This record gives sequence, C-alpha cells and structure tokens, in this order.
Amino acid sequence: MPKRVLVVDDDPTQRRILEETIKQFGYNVEAVDSGGSALVALKADSAGDICLILLDLFMPDTDGMAVLSAMRSMPRKPPAIVQTAHGSIDAAIGAMRAGAVDFVVKPVSPERLEVSIKNALKIEALAGEITRMKASANGDLGLADIIAGAEAMQRVIKLGKRAAGSNIPVVIEGEPGVGKELIARAIHGEGDRKSKPFVTVSCGVVPARQIESILFGNARDKRAGKFVEADGGTLFLDEISALSLDVQAKLLRALTDGEIKPVGATQPMYVDVRLIATTNQNLIGLVQEHRFREDLYYKLNVFPVWVPPLRQRLEDAPELIRNFSARFAAEEGKRIDGLDAEATFMLQRYSWPGNIRQLENAVFRAVVLADTPMLTVNEFPQIAAHVEGYAVTVPPAPAPKDPTPRIDGPVMLGKSADSPATIHVPSSEGKDALGIPALMDSGDIRSLEAVEADMIRLAFGRYRGRMTEIAKRLGIGRSTLYRKMREIGLEARTN
Ligand SMILES: Nc1ncnc2c1ncn2[C@@H]1O[C@H](COP(=O)(O)OP(=O)(O)OP(=O)(O)O)[C@@H](O)[C@H]1O
Ligand SMILES: [Mg+2]
Repeated sequence: MPKRVLVVDDDPTQRRILEETIKQFGYNVEAVDSGGSALVALKADSAGDICLILLDLFMPDTDGMAVLSAMRSMPRKPPAIVQTAHGSIDAAIGAMRAGAVDFVVKPVSPERLEVSIKNALKIEALAGEITRMKASANGDLGLADIIAGAEAMQRVIKLGKRAAGSNIPVVIEGEPGVGKELIARAIHGEGDRKSKPFVTVSCGVVPARQIESILFGNARDKRAGKFVEADGGTLFLDEISALSLDVQAKLLRALTDGEIKPVGATQPMYVDVRLIATTNQNLIGLVQEHRFREDLYYKLNVFPVWVPPLRQRLEDAPELIRNFSARFAAEEGKRIDGLDAEATFMLQRYSWPGNIRQLENAVFRAVVLADTPMLTVNEFPQIAAHVEGYAVTVPPAPAPKDPTPRIDGPVMLGKSADSPATIHVPSSEGKDALGIPALMDSGDIRSLEAVEADMIRLAFGRYRGRMTEIAKRLGIGRSTLYRKMREIGLEARTN
C-alpha cells in the first residue's frame, strides 16, 4: 500500500472535508471514525505505510490523548498533528507534551493544514537522517542505510551483502570521496562481527617507517598493533597501495595464516581479523609496475567492489542533497525546504571530481549561505562557476517590498548569452521544484508582486537571459520586462 495520512475524527462531515483536502495536497488518505480504529490501523501489518496521523482530540471513548499515549510505546510511530477546538490552548499544550508534533485549531484552513503536514513530514525525514548518523557512529550502520538508488550502486550493495556474509578480504575501489569507507563500515555493520571493533589505518598518512609497528605491534615498547586491536572484528586499511612491498609481504602472511609478528618479537601471534581495504589507484596497474605484490593482489581481489563515481549515478544526487541539507539545516538551526529546479538542473550538469564528499561540502556551504528556505544556484557559486552557461551575480539589493526573502536567478555572462542553449526542464518538476512559494512562513499568501518577481527571476534563469524569449513566455512586452527587472534589481550582463 502506498504511504498515507491517517485521519481520525468522529464527526463525519469533518472527516470527509479533511479527507478531500488532504487528497488535494497529493497524499493518500485513510479516514477512521474513532481512537479505537486508529489504534487498530497503527498496529496493523500495513502500519508502516502511515506517514502521518491527523488526530481529533475530542472523541468519545478513546480520545486523541489516549491515542497519543498508546503511540508512545510503539516502536515506529508516524508524526501526529492534533486538532483542537478554538481557545483550548491547554489541550494543545497537553497534546504537544504527549508527543504531537503540531496542532491546528478547528476549523483548520487548507493552507495552514498543508504547511503543518509538510513540516511534520520534514521533521520525520530529518529524524531518519539522524538515526543513520547515530547508526554509523555505533557500528550499527547497514547497507540499507546507504543512499544507493542508482542501478550501478545497487550492484555495489548486492556485492556488499554477499561480502558481509563471509570473512574473506574485500577491496573497495573507487575515486576519492565516493563513499568507500561508508561502504566498508556498512559491510562490517551487516555481518557477524558488528559488535566487535572496526579499526582503521590510513596507510597513506602514517609515516612509512612506523607503519609496520602500527599494524603488527612492537615488542620492545610493548605496543599492541592494530591487528591485535581489531581481533575478532574488522581491520580497515585505507589506501592499501601506499604500503611498501616489505609490509605487503607481512600483510599477506597475516591474511593467509592469521599470523603476525610484532616488531622485535621472536614468536608470532595469531589473530582473527577480517580485512577490508580501499584504493583509489588501479591495483593491477601497480602490479604491472612491480609496486604491488601480485600474490597479495590475488589474495585481495577475490572480492573486488568498485564504487562508481557520482557523475555516473547523478540520479542519486537529489536524495543525497535532501539528506545533507536536512542534516546541515538542523546543525545550523535553519529551515531549508530543498533545491529549486534551476539549481537541481545545474548540479546535475557538474562532473563532481570530488564525488559525494564534494557534494556534501557544497551543500554545507549552500546551507550556510542561504537566506531563503529554497536553495538556488546562487548558493553554489563554486559549482556554478564550472558549469557551462552559469555564473552568478548578486544584484544590488533593493529595499525588500515584502517580508519574503529574495530569490535571485542565475545571470548569463559574456557571449554565450546569445547562444541558443537548449534548456532541459526536468520532467519531475512539480510546483515545489519551481521554488516559488505561494505562502509566507506565517501561512498567509504572498502578494502578487512578490510572486511575480520570483516568476521573472525564474524565467530569467530558465531562458538564460534571452530577453525576447523571457518576455514572450511571461506574456509581457520587452520594455515592461526591462522595467520590472530593474525594479527587482535584476540585470543582464551582456558585455
Ligand atoms: N551513499 C551515501 N549516502 C550518504 N552519504 C554518503 C554516501 N556515500 C558517501 N557519503 C558521505 O560522503 C563522504 C565521503 O565518503 P567516504 O569517506 O566513505 O568516501 P571515501 O571513498 O572513503 O573517500 P576517500 O577516498 O577520500 O577516502 C562521507 O561523509 C560519507 O558519509
Ligand atoms: Mg576514505
């Protein structure tokens, strides 16, 4: 069953109005007439599909408060919005204390209800992201927690699952920042060793003369090495190609017989360690150059996992961006609703040489820079500078005409301004993707003037500053367009 909103109200007229209104917002709805039926739905097998509950507080028998308190002990519960009667502030406070995420006063306006539902669902998404981060820190991260919708990534997840069920060494190959360590942690978190240590060594960072005693220990200063530390668990060797041939030989012995010899020791020791290594070099190429041992290569290469670069799985970018922006918005204490269509389009045309780490950093900067809830091209200046046809100028700020923060569109530079660029408009573009809100934060509708200004900025970016085209699309004359643009402080640079 698809995700749905559960409406709980004993008044049949109210129930029908709410059902219709919420359907119009684009959600599926299930409506029930009592607290008792709500609890049945929340405990049913299909309860996982309830993404939100809209709950009337005053109902006979099991009332809204009783439902909220029963929900407390449920392992997975949807966010709840309660409806209260006019003037019953105490009831609203009580419901919020009992775990409701918001309350609306009856009769609720469709606008207020939509804002409340959207916010509640956003809080839910954020909670999911926080769970994922906590899981990663505790070693509970599994392969299902990794964002991997793209087909190329599904292969990685499948391989990872098979690897998790065994103890053979794994090599994870991929460009910098593609998520090699995250995948290694997930393989560890998915297998039998998950409650045991996950010990990491950055082979490329540790000085060459210390690496042997760091890995295998040192009998003279009685230092246990990382192999001993990882006993029973996983040893993660980051950038394994940085190891010298000599250390590679010792690593091979440890992998083959479980035998390690601390520096200066006379007797070997035995450890039970699962090895996961990474490299962003082509190992077979290094074997040919005699910089990597062939026997070790074959020992490790039983389970090669290649993680594709981000540019080959850009379909995962929107979800990654949603997760990162939810996390950084929470950290920065800001409200971020998402990315507008123009920015989504622009980011998907960049090649991301630094992969997911670079995307994560770019989103972080964008969230810090943002002064509207919708991220635009202007918040990604470094990326825009590298995408053909984009550059950002921030026009001198005119005095704002309404409390709505400004959204500035991208401005074309130089001669490409008159090149007839073909603009691909993402097909999934809904009203959210346009990034032109109809309401202010207060829930009141915005003035036509403010919405018009946003429309002009959007058209300006969409048609790359081609004034004739913009005027035609907006259905106004060119001179009117120039005037309106000047009024909102937007100017094309054509030199
Ligand atoms: N699929 C994903 N979903 C969510 N976050 C991801 C994903 N892949 C990578 N990340 C995040 O991107 C960042 C880089 O990932 P990670 O450190 O695992 O990459 P790496 O391949 O080990 O990089 P390097 O080669 O530079 O060591 C991390 O913050 C990680 O949490
Ligand atoms: Mg790494």
